[in-house]
Amino acid sequence: MEPTQSAPHIEQLMHLSLYRQLITLPDGIRVCLRPLTPKDRDALIALFANLPAEETQYFRSKIADPDLVAAWAENPDYATIFPLVAVVGDRIVGNSTLHMGRGYTRHTAEIRIFLAKDFRRHGIGSAIIKAQLEIARKIGLHQVIAEVVESRPQVIHAFERLGFERQFAWRDLFMTPEGETLDMVVVINFLKRRTEEF
Ligand SMILES: CC(C)(COP(=O)(O)OP(=O)(O)OC[C@H]1O[C@@H](n2cnc3c(N)ncnc32)[C@H](O)[C@@H]1OP(=O)(O)O)[C@@H](O)C(=O)NCCC(=O)NCCS
Repeated sequence: MEPTQSAPHIEQLMHLSLYRQLITLPDGIRVCLRPLTPKDRDALIALFANLPAEETQYFRSKIADPDLVAAWAENPDYATIFPLVAVVGDRIVGNSTLHMGRGYTRHTAEIRIFLAKDFRRHGIGSAIIKAQLEIARKIGLHQVIAEVVESRPQVIHAFERLGFERQFAWRDLFMTPEGETLDMVVVINFLKRRTEEF
């Protein structure tokens, strides 16, 4: 039989549209973690609106373009990119995506995360990353990968304290708006390791 190249987890991802996690942070803030849906369009645009240049430089996409952000909410394809949002009241205060690998990397996903500045350092980032790891485990992934620019050691630390291991620094991968290059640190959470056999 031909080995399958399709991701083994597509059906499970569809069930994840029902995923909900309610958390109360130590400071009393109540947060709902759930997948992004088309109804979140305006709240997602608001999350990414009016960010200063020092924040927008960390995005690969043109985050200041509301049409682009609207399209992410309007056309979610959980099997390709699984988006989890953190909601406080009726505001989206954080967004995280799992970008599924394909073909020979179909057992891996890359995680990206962004929190509104006024909701950082309350434990929400850690809660979202843990939720995405739980989801990755449920759908049978082996590795969750994050790329963090080396000039943000506190962010690297945030991943390391959740079990991510520093693999290597990709020299000069990141280019700032001014054209300066920085190293990108690749950290991986190994959910499943190959058992060594001799
Ligand atoms: C990185 C980010 C997701 C962390 O989420 P968060 O909710 O602020 O982090 P938490 O409150 O869960 O804290 C986790 C740990 O991160 C570290 N940390 C995060 N931001 C930090 C900062 N600005 N200064 C110092 N430590 C920091 C701390 O070790 C902290 O643990 P502690 O509070 O017990 O000391 C969030 O700050 C963010 O969205 N930043 C901008 C976007 C970004 O850098 N994304 C990562 C690229 S994939």
